Amino acid sequence: MKKDDYKIRAAGFEDAVDISRIIRANPETLLARPIGDIVQNIDRFLVAQTAKSICGTVSWQILPEIGAPHNPSVEIKSLAVDTDFRGLGIGKALVEKAISQIRLLHPVQIIALTFAPEFFEKLGFRQVAKESLMHKIYAGCVNCTRYDSPFTCPEIAVALDIRA
Ligand SMILES: CC(C)(COP(=O)(O)OP(=O)(O)OC[C@H]1O[C@@H](n2cnc3c(N)ncnc32)[C@H](O)[C@@H]1OP(=O)(O)O)[C@@H](O)C(=O)NCCC(=O)NCCS
Repeated sequence: MKKDDYKIRAAGFEDAVDISRIIRANPETLLARPIGDIVQNIDRFLVAQTAKSICGTVSWQILPEIGAPHNPSVEIKSLAVDTDFRGLGIGKALVEKAISQIRLLHPVQIIALTFAPEFFEKLGFRQVAKESLMHKIYAGCVNCTRYDSPFTCPEIAVALDIRA
């Protein structure tokens, strides 16, 4: 495939099964999501579409912000590109489009927890202490069964400040 033979578009319900397949292909780096969760949040998914198939996806969720309704953070999650399509700029294009969609909401920052911090740093994110993302920890990590504590989990927290 040539570098530009794909487009990034909003997902529709017809993409849910493919999105689930792409996420499940990365059990070491991504948390599995029930198909019902994907369907219920399909309006927060983008997909990379080639002539033949969907080869990548990304989604986001708004994190709770108790007592500071003007300062929410948004988490980028479920980012994956099929192995045959990596290294073509598709992951970058997915995250850039997600950022432009999220910007419309005017959050304080966009965050991610990732094993690929360098990928996000190339897009302007910087590494931050997990302690600065307690809303994420309460919203998601508290139910994680993989590690004893979010603070011993090897995923790196990154954030993109978009107030400027
Ligand atoms: C991370 C992932 C989405 C990157 O997708 P991709 O389409 O191969 O990435 P791109 O081709 O857009 O790469 C953009 C840049 O990031 C770099 N990059 C890509 N993957 C990287 C990684 N895992 N670590 C560090 N840098 C990476 C590329 O070299 C490229 O750099 P350049 O602009 O200087 O050439 C893909 O490897 C993947 O699906 N991994 C498994 C799931 C995962 O780890 N998701 C992220 C968890 S939040």
